Amino acid sequence: MGEYALANIYQFRETDPKTAELLGLIGEIMNVRKRGERPLAYVHTYGCQQNVSDSEKIKGMLFTAGFDFTDDESEADFILFNTCAVREHAEDRVFGNVGALKNIKRRHPSVIIALCGCMMEQKSVSDRIYKSYPFVNLVFGTHSVSRFPQLLYDVLVNSKRIIDNDVEDNTIYENLPTLRDKNFKGFIPIMYGCDNFCSYCIVPYVRGRERSRESKAVIDEARSMIEAGYKEITLLGQNVNSYGKGLNEDITFAGLLREIDKIEGDYILRFMTSHPKDCTHELIDTIANSKHISKHLHLPFQSGSSRILKEMNRRYTREKYLDIIAYAKEKIDGLSLTSDVIVGFPGETYEDFLETLSLVKEVEYTSLYTFIYSRRPGTPAAKLPDVVTSEEKSKWFTELLKTQEKIAAERCASMVGSVERVLVEEVNEKNGLLSGRTSGNIIVEAPGDIELIGTFRDVKITEARNWILRGEFI
Ligand code: SAH
Ligand code: SF4
Ligand code: F3S
Repeated sequence: MGEYALANIYQFRETDPKTAELLGLIGEIMNVRKRGERPLAYVHTYGCQQNVSDSEKIKGMLFTAGFDFTDDESEADFILFNTCAVREHAEDRVFGNVGALKNIKRRHPSVIIALCGCMMEQKSVSDRIYKSYPFVNLVFGTHSVSRFPQLLYDVLVNSKRIIDNDVEDNTIYENLPTLRDKNFKGFIPIMYGCDNFCSYCIVPYVRGRERSRESKAVIDEARSMIEAGYKEITLLGQNVNSYGKGLNEDITFAGLLREIDKIEGDYILRFMTSHPKDCTHELIDTIANSKHISKHLHLPFQSGSSRILKEMNRRYTREKYLDIIAYAKEKIDGLSLTSDVIVGFPGETYEDFLETLSLVKEVEYTSLYTFIYSRRPGTPAAKLPDVVTSEEKSKWFTELLKTQEKIAAERCASMVGSVERVLVEEVNEKNGLLSGRTSGNIIVEAPGDIELIGTFRDVKITEARNWILRGEFI
């Protein structure tokens, strides 16, 4: 891992002296503990790309302090779970997996166990961890990523438990090292937090207020990745369309995309997530006229019923959503659409659900992320009466899945015979085929040499297997 990691460590601005000093001290302490061997860290990330991006920063700091990484918890000297709070199921999994660490701690008492991420921003969670999981050494929230070296240092030196999750720090730290898993595709966060307060959603409470990075920082980071040979860049934010609000410069998200698109090179530019309420014609025109932006729009609609959308505080109607989709389809050749949808929001009736179903049929998404509503304490929707049984909601959910599977299969089948440009990403361990994605983010598999990984290749599509395409490299 050491050498590979070195090739991918990325530093946008030099680490500030205080952080660098702390990382050096952590390295010295671990070096003594490990008698000169490199200490090992196990980092597991739950949830969305925002968390993946935070983990890349934390791994960058660990690597700078001298750590290597392992996939085997039992040999790690430091274990970190970066957690997600978006649905109850996600939280249950984390509690289960944290519970299982007890045995590792018993066998290997010097291991440091840390938990961070969105779940840890909730006091009820940190209280429960403090009381019931005494083997956890460190808990920190999403606002404390830049403070991680100080926190780990304090744990190592003082051997006491630390909970650091009530920080209200909205500073954007540009000087943290980043360690990406791959050296040809990577994320760039362009903004943090969310101000939308959709009534079902916990994210604004655990990620804090919306704040954007300066455009120069983003553009410089993109340029340096492209110069380093990156072939795919994904710009990240909970609501990228409102990028730029609150900055001392006059820039929109579409403007930012146009600036990055000007950078010379062979790469594809992606972004997520767009919110329909501020998805402008300017943005769609920008995609249509760009050289590098993928012909893909991930535009979560959440519900096809305007009544439910209002209850969700989404601030658009079914009609407004469909207008944007119609404009995008008209302007962007070969557009691929994907979306998120929630089934069983409190008060949703079968009639409302049928509107969701009809919207899905009308838009014809290439893929859909489907969720059953999960009650999040502290959100406005958690107070609404929720009378539909979970059996009933599951039935609706299955109906939705079946409908979408059919649409995705038909869409994929219609691509047989075409030639697609694919960024080859990995080997599918199950069938030995190389796997990559089209501009529209559809998975394509083909037999080939692993040397192709990290390059763009043309693939002749020969077969559609539901929502996955098979083909041959030309
Ligand atoms: N900011 C992004 C999505 C963040 S969360 C956006 O607005 O599109 C990812 C998805 O999880 C959401 O789009 C939504 O479909 C789903 N989700 C969020 N809260 C949920 C909840 N309480 N129950 C079920 N699904 C939820
Ligand atoms: Fe949650 Fe809505 Fe913000 Fe997305 S836009 S993170 S769904 S509150
Ligand atoms: Fe989960 Fe936090 Fe993302 S709650 S979905 S990891 S912003």
